Amino acid sequence: MRKPIIAGNWKMNKTLSEARELAQAVAERVGSVSDVGMILCPPFVALEVVGSIIDGSNIELGGQNVYWRESGAYTGEVSPTMLVSVGCRYVIVGHSERRGRFGVPEPDMTEGLHRLFGDSDESVNVKAKAALAAGLIPIICCGETLQERQAGDTDLIVREQVSAALEGLSAEQVTSLVIAYEPVWAIGTGETCQDDEANRVIGVIRLTVAELFDTDPATSMRILYGGSVKPENVKGLMEQLEIDGGLVGGASLEADSFCQLVETTQAVYQR
Ligand code: PGA
Repeated sequence: MRKPIIAGNWKMNKTLSEARELAQAVAERVGSVSDVGMILCPPFVALEVVGSIIDGSNIELGGQNVYWRESGAYTGEVSPTMLVSVGCRYVIVGHSERRGRFGVPEPDMTEGLHRLFGDSDESVNVKAKAALAAGLIPIICCGETLQERQAGDTDLIVREQVSAALEGLSAEQVTSLVIAYEPVWAIGTGETCQDDEANRVIGVIRLTVAELFDTDPATSMRILYGGSVKPENVKGLMEQLEIDGGLVGGASLEADSFCQLVETTQAVYQR
């Protein structure tokens, strides 16, 4: 059985003191849980502090983004080795908020903020490779926009994104990494993908991986669902056979809701 993961993506939230407080509260309540993987992904500036608080607990540290070069004149970027040096084991790669247009203030917010920072299928692939080479486990995000879903292109889009992200990786590398299916229209909107539909698309992702390699990476790799995961809907999502956990934004910003997600997932998997 695949061990589930609840990963908190804090995005651009929490000052250093707020980050300290949140990490302490989470570590106190769920730090010793061993049958659910827990990852906190604070902003870069809080990684060290959060890492020192969760050190010795079962909670692991992740970055929210990474650049693919080791060092050099890349203003504002952070390398895989830097993330490792601060205690990260994971890094989110290709989140929908990081894909797409470069730095353009988003005039049309009807779908929420997404596709702001220029990541492409190609850069996601290169970042994933660089992360793996440094010993990090990438959490590779994929997911369709509302328009793409309405046009009936959901499966096509996730298949394309996943195939491109995994291009050139070995089956062994793919077994170790994590994919997060995050329909863009469900991120930060309060609108969750139906349990069975999230399960279906994640099945499509698993099939895509199986076709690209052999069945091994597909059956053992963890695939998470992300997009308005909350204490109220987590049980139904975690009961789905293909869903191995959640990548959580909003509900990871409060210790109580994040811990409830962990505890509910634990209860579902213990049955
Ligand atoms: P959300 O964000 O839980 O706030 O919808 C999820 C994500 O973007 O990873």
